[in-house]
Amino acid sequence: MTAVGIDAVEIWTGNLKLDLPGTFAPEKGEDPEKYTKGLGLNASSFPDSYEDIVTMGANAAHRLMERKGLEPDDIGRIDVATESAFDNSKPVSTYVAGCLEQVYDGDFHHANKGERKFACIAGTQSLDDACNWIRAGRNRGRSALVIATDTALYARGDAGEATQGAGAVAMLISEDPSLVELSTEQGYGSADETDFLKPNQQFPSVDGKRSVQVYLARMREALEDFESVAGEVHEDDFVYAPFHTPFPGMVRKAALLAYRHVIRDTSIEDELADEIGRQPRPEAFDSDEEYRDALREYMDALKGTDRYAEWYDATIDPTLTISREVGNWYTGSVHVARVSALKQALEAGRDLTGEKLLVGSYGSGAQAEIHAETIQDGWEEELEALNVDEQLADRYEMAWEDYEEIHDVHNHEMDVDVEEFTTPSEEFVFDGWGRMGERK
Ligand code: CAA
Repeated sequence: MTAVGIDAVEIWTGNLKLDLPGTFAPEKGEDPEKYTKGLGLNASSFPDSYEDIVTMGANAAHRLMERKGLEPDDIGRIDVATESAFDNSKPVSTYVAGCLEQVYDGDFHHANKGERKFACIAGTQSLDDACNWIRAGRNRGRSALVIATDTALYARGDAGEATQGAGAVAMLISEDPSLVELSTEQGYGSADETDFLKPNQQFPSVDGKRSVQVYLARMREALEDFESVAGEVHEDDFVYAPFHTPFPGMVRKAALLAYRHVIRDTSIEDELADEIGRQPRPEAFDSDEEYRDALREYMDALKGTDRYAEWYDATIDPTLTISREVGNWYTGSVHVARVSALKQALEAGRDLTGEKLLVGSYGSGAQAEIHAETIQDGWEEELEALNVDEQLADRYEMAWEDYEEIHDVHNHEMDVDVEEFTTPSEEFVFDGWGRMGERK
């Protein structure tokens, strides 16, 4: 079967930055280390007043098309994944196509467009759909454009306010991809959950602590389901494991869970047994509570071992570098984690062709998906072409008053207008609901 996967990727961050330990923490009267050490975040990206999910998505897609020398006729499908949509009928992909049609001679009338919604996992679902469309032979030689775009804003004062972010990831899905091939094996963990909802409202109603537990439970199920189709996962099978990253502290918890899982049936558990004992098995306990307590103790001990620390530093930590500086991008977040890890490897001069990634996506509501990817010959050129560092460095850093203003500007229930903080430069800009972004 021909390899299908991600041929190229582009990232577009919101043009504003909020310093969490320096600006946010003092206003909230909190210790800056809650953000840097606890949540694992230094800063969040925000959209300027002329940016929204359409402009960020279109800007990422345009950059990608320009870099790859593509015309509309090369694209047979445009899928947008978002949980920040403002239109319950017309998909965001049509708005994005409208933007792009302003700058290309051709149009996208031939392209199948849609919008995917399942909280943050929708980006990966769109990616899966695009791969399957190609595998089914329906693409007529064309590629798919998958765009994950969100403004992850919470109500002011909500605990989630610390984990906001805004940005878009555009991915080109093709046969014989240059970046990664996606495995056809996938594992799922899915349940009807109500920890994070937006029923006809812009800002989420979220039970933050419970949402963390639901993330972990669904990830565990997805890992088990993945192993049932792909075979056992072992410690050294994957060079990196990019996971959905609402904030890096969440991934620290998910990584420990994954590690306990991958060492369960291997000799590593035997090797660690003298140091921390064996993993508790539920059948050895009289009650669930006793089992949970023993498991918690084991996990704490596992976290303190050198072996786990080495695995975490090599496999997980490199996936978190960009997230630390941008916050949660919802649908784009796991795709930012992939870029982050590969970028680290590029900078370290590593040769990764043929190595594998274990990708863990998650969406509240709730569903997790695990799949594997194989890094392709050509990944270095794709990573070298990105300008993530420049984009992050060029953001305007907001004072607290700026942040309050911009949050109100993006609050759909308020009618607030402020001057833009940055000057748009060759990018699509938002100019009113229902209209497409004009390019300035
Ligand atoms: N120094 C070091 N660490 C500190 C600290 C300090 N001074 N103060 C606190 N911390 C640590 C805490 O111990 C905690 O770490 P652990 O969880 O490992 O114990 C961490 O910092 C956060 O502190 P709190 O739990 O006190 O923070 P909080 O109550 O203000 O809220 C949150 C945390 C519930 C995650 C909140 O940010 C939230 O609601 N976020 C939105 C929901 C979310 O992102 N959920 C994630 C799973 S759902 C998902 O993934 C989908 C999605 O994208 C939303």
